[in-house]
Amino acid sequence: MRSHGVVESTDGLPRRAEAVRSTNFVFPNDTNHHGTMFGGRVLQLMDQTGAIAAARFAHTTVVTAAMEAVSFQQPIREGEIIETVARVVYTGRTSMIVRVDVFADHQLTGERKRATTGYLTMVALDAAGKPMPVPRLLIETEEERADYEAAEQVRLAARRRTED
Ligand SMILES: CC(C)(COP(=O)(O)OP(=O)(O)OC[C@H]1O[C@@H](n2cnc3c(N)ncnc32)[C@H](O)[C@@H]1OP(=O)(O)O)[C@@H](O)C(=O)NCCC(=O)NCCS
Repeated sequence: MRSHGVVESTDGLPRRAEAVRSTNFVFPNDTNHHGTMFGGRVLQLMDQTGAIAAARFAHTTVVTAAMEAVSFQQPIREGEIIETVARVVYTGRTSMIVRVDVFADHQLTGERKRATTGYLTMVALDAAGKPMPVPRLLIETEEERADYEAAEQVRLAARRRTED
């Protein structure tokens, strides 16, 4: 239940994560001198869409703790239409990992390519700005299981790096 932006209680049941999608044109001011999109602008859209996915899942405000395994696989060109798709794929105690994929569509041909993928750790915050527990993630499909396991590997790899 939610009141005044604060989660008062949860039913304790695992919760299904819905995908959040945002669509944008790539304008000249989004690009570098190669005519391709700035990585920082791509990260901004990923962060924004990922935060919405996490906030909707947990019904709290969230903050980005980490961006892991971000891979810019294909350049995104001026004039293309990009779709940013974010979904919570893993939950810890107070943190969630959101997988974010950015697809770029050619305006004329409609051809679609996956351009960027990344895993964002979002932490749920209470009204005092302290980390608070999130609902457990409901896993129903093979794809969701594979996404969960991939995110778990990302989390373990990040932990190993910070311990070194
Ligand atoms: C993220 C933040 C709230 C964590 O606070 P904290 O006091 O370290 O909290 P905790 O140690 O209790 O960790 C809370 C959760 O965050 C995770 N976490 C904390 N730092 C992390 C990091 N750098 N990378 C990945 N996960 C992290 C912990 O593993 C824990 O997850 P769990 O509860 O699911 O096991 C705090 O570090 C912060 O405010 N960072 C700045 C965030 C920010 O400004 N982001 C950019 C703008 S949005």
